Amino acid sequence: MKFKTIISSTVLGAAMLAIPAAHADITLRHALTGEALDLSFAKKGGHTEKFKQFMQTGKNPYNGDEEAVKKGESLYMTGCSGCHGHEAEGKLGPGLADDYWTYPRGLTDQGLFEILFGGANGMMGPQYVNFSTDDMLHIMAFIRHIYKGDPKKAEWLK
Ligand code: HEC
Repeated sequence: MKFKTIISSTVLGAAMLAIPAAHADITLRHALTGEALDLSFAKKGGHTEKFKQFMQTGKNPYNGDEEAVKKGESLYMTGCSGCHGHEAEGKLGPGLADDYWTYPRGLTDQGLFEILFGGANGMMGPQYVNFSTDDMLHIMAFIRHIYKGDPKKAEWLK
């Protein structure tokens, strides 16, 4: 009887620990300051199921999704290509399709999202002004799709 109680309380304890862990969101930080990003600045409508999934895993669920890549491409052409080039080859801003990163955390989906949402130096302003969080994930899927760098450096695939 005593043994059984210990077992069931252990199982219950593990379950109670597991529930909040499964729902814990990642903490997004500004690429330069390291301060937690305030998602209340986000445009309405971007907190989709896919975005919620991203907030739990730190992985972009749109990666490799053909339709998402297409939508991401059109958003990229509107809001990013003017500075980063149509093939993300670099222009006013650095190339985004190669494996050289000013901010190496951009090689993870979480790091890339942080640069987009919060911005970086100079002309790289916070993109929440123009795009919803779900839009940003689409743009990121496009950027990963056109990657031409060393496959071994593709952190987001690991
Ligand atoms: C007005 C010009 C401008 C626009 C528009 C712009 N960027 Fe940038 N971007 C820059 C500049 C300049 C930098 C370099 C900033 C730095 O080094 O801190 C940069 C840096 C970046 C970086 C970091 C690259 C690295 O090597 O670490 C990423 C990622 C990025 N931009 C993505 C985007 C995306 C995606 C969009 C569209 C949603 C976008 N940018 C829109 C100018 C721009």
